[in-house]
Amino acid sequence: MPAMSSTACGKLILLGEHAVVYHSPAIAIPLSSLRVRTTVEAAIGQPQGRLQIKAGQLGIDHDLEMLGMEHFLVQTLELLFTYLGVKQRPTCLVTITADLPLSAGLGSSAAIVISLLRAMSAFLGHPLELHDLNELAFQSEKTVHGRPSGIDNTVITYEKPVYYQRGEEPEFLQPSHGYAFVVADTGIRKSTGGSVAQLAADLAANPTAIQPHLDAIADLVREGKRSFQTGDLAALGEAMSADQDHLSALRLSCPELDALVLAARQAGALGAKLTGGGMGGHMLALVTPETETKVSQALLSAGSPRVFTTHLKPAE
Ligand code: MEV
Repeated sequence: MPAMSSTACGKLILLGEHAVVYHSPAIAIPLSSLRVRTTVEAAIGQPQGRLQIKAGQLGIDHDLEMLGMEHFLVQTLELLFTYLGVKQRPTCLVTITADLPLSAGLGSSAAIVISLLRAMSAFLGHPLELHDLNELAFQSEKTVHGRPSGIDNTVITYEKPVYYQRGEEPEFLQPSHGYAFVVADTGIRKSTGGSVAQLAADLAANPTAIQPHLDAIADLVREGKRSFQTGDLAALGEAMSADQDHLSALRLSCPELDALVLAARQAGALGAKLTGGGMGGHMLALVTPETETKVSQALLSAGSPRVFTTHLKPAE
């Protein structure tokens, strides 16, 4: 069997993370410049069914069995083999590499799963349709953190801007305007599972304090969808900043994110917020060509170890 390589992009949540877990809508865009790549190649001369995995960024260089049945890579492959009716594991070497930082709010777990499913299904001669790929990736995401909304796997599978609400068909958005976002790393790595679990505990303990923030975020996303589609940059930026204020009240920000958000806003960003699981990870700021450089420099001066810009083109 010839070697197969596949990639998957990262993602940025513009509005609505966390509330989306509770059936509110959210908007996400692909981060196509940062990707995960998986290569699957036949391991000639190895015992039949020996499947080795190398994933340097995850600290993995093992036979599949060594990872344990609970590991998300094992679960992902088992889901795929069951789905395709593969009884005997292929004798192969799987190599996963990523430019996408892990546990940083940029969708690395979904990107790893999706690139692995793409490469392995192609290696086995049954490349997955996007709908099936998305469904398997969602099943696999459940093993990474118990309560995924499905937005990460959806935006990464289809690599298109999406308005997503759990249980509904995803609505792919066609913005009439191009966008520039500056993204800044706090340098702090946090698992999404941890922040999702914290919010779940807070919501259970004190629903009257928490639910109004989730409802307010849902309203911001609904308004933000119109702003995003029509190119109302000022309104979209305001919605992002208002979302950040609710996420912060929900204990999902952290001092480092707060400092980056403030620096971006003071340097002229139209809006700034955490993106993804929060409590670390990355900050996202909406900028214009006039403010892009100033905002980037302000974020570096405010202590971000890594700042980059990503552009979203208008729909053709
Ligand atoms: C993570 O990228 C987004 C969260 O809303 C979790 C989820 O939707 O599964 C925090």
